[in-house]
Amino acid sequence: MLSDQDRIFTNLYGMHDRSLAGARKRGHWDGTKEILARGRDKIVEEVKASGLRGRGGAGFPTGLKWSFMPKESDGRPCYLVINADESEPGTCKDREIMRHDPHTLIEGALIASFAMGAHAAYIYIRGEYIREREALQAAIDECYDAGLIGRNACGSGYDFDLYLHHGAGAYICGEETALLESLEGKKGMPRMKPPFPAGAGLYGCPTTVNNVESIAVTPTILRRGPDWFASFGRPNNAGTKLFALTGHVNTPCVFEDQMSLPVRELIEKHGGGIRGGWDNLKAIIPGGASCPVLRRDQIEDGIMDFDWMRENQSSFGTGCMIIMDQSVDVVKAIWRLSKFFKHESCGQCTPCREGTGWMMRVMDRLVRGEAEIEEIDMLFDVSKQVEGHTICALGDAAAWPIQGLIRNFREEIEDRIKARKTGRMGAMAAE
Ligand SMILES: Cc1cc2nc3c(=O)[nH]c(=O)nc-3n(C[C@H](O)[C@H](O)[C@H](O)COP(=O)(O)O)c2cc1C
Ligand code: SF4
Repeated sequence: MLSDQDRIFTNLYGMHDRSLAGARKRGHWDGTKEILARGRDKIVEEVKASGLRGRGGAGFPTGLKWSFMPKESDGRPCYLVINADESEPGTCKDREIMRHDPHTLIEGALIASFAMGAHAAYIYIRGEYIREREALQAAIDECYDAGLIGRNACGSGYDFDLYLHHGAGAYICGEETALLESLEGKKGMPRMKPPFPAGAGLYGCPTTVNNVESIAVTPTILRRGPDWFASFGRPNNAGTKLFALTGHVNTPCVFEDQMSLPVRELIEKHGGGIRGGWDNLKAIIPGGASCPVLRRDQIEDGIMDFDWMRENQSSFGTGCMIIMDQSVDVVKAIWRLSKFFKHESCGQCTPCREGTGWMMRVMDRLVRGEAEIEEIDMLFDVSKQVEGHTICALGDAAAWPIQGLIRNFREEIEDRIKARKTGRMGAMAAE
């Protein structure tokens, strides 16, 4: 178990003072000027060496992403954009940073921006996060007043401005290029890549988009050293991480622990076990709604990290797990997710616009058992035609839960179809 002295987030539950004075007492904003004095190359090198991978879902190495930014300006400014949209169903970790430990994020924003030659950073916060926005803005104001950001930030000679921008509550605006469009005042429609944001991002200028947690952990990594961070987790899965447990655990929670711990240990230790005991566990969606659902027998000996989840045909995603006990109608649960993805499709590419609606309508019928057995394979085939054939990853996000359901709970779908045909549907919990 992670010891208290190895925790990056020391006020996750809001039990302590979240103001600048409180944050300083807990070690934040300590020696920031000296960190900046190491120079941008050294900072990028250290973040690379720490093994930090993006905490927004895709797990792209953070230091490597920073190194894509131009070393010399061609006259255009550079930007850091922090993704605080957090709209993946089941994911609720970044809000704890913003409302209770906002200084970790602001200090991280300064250091990361400096490392990429950006004099301005934007935090794009989910529209519904009103209290979080207030807490974060109050912390930003404190930092301006204390000279930590703004002109000559921390006395480093570097000028840095930080803007907080709130979204209007569309899931797609969490996709990094849709987010940039939205920030520019346009409709949140993902852009074709290339060009990638590091070449042409916000207002056509070099931009890096990072998740809140990815940025908020960097000051501590740089204070304690990359080896310290890399000492947690298996190789390629380094660090400590914010996880969440929602659904049928006894104590749903957000917590920090190390990567690569057994799934069962996390549930027992932090979630107080499964409601009704371990045998009552039915399924887990490991890292937000888009990750394929796994059965208990598949995941009970699982390891919570990027590699294990990938090797077992699911995904680590954001590390926020949805736990379902035996009371859950898993076909209906995945139907509900397919309805969500259909609703959130921006509609600009055909496989996603038509495919999400088509998949949802088949799921509608599967829930009621009003389908033929062959349609299960047809649904799987259609999901494969959506996956990987769209401008952004929302298409994949819509396909994966359905693929997981068919791979791992096929019997439940078939039972329902057979029950409908034999008139036993009343016995099923579907309607
Ligand atoms: C439909 C969709 C929604 C997304 N929503 C979020 C989100 O709410 N927050 C987030 O950090 N990343 C989200 N992402 C991932 C971002 O596109 C991007 O990969 C991430 O912000 C990069 O940060 P990281 O490298 O620090 O993980 C989303 C991606 C897609 C396709
Ligand atoms: S995949 Fe869907 S959400 Fe993404 S750009 Fe295409 S239509 Fe829009």
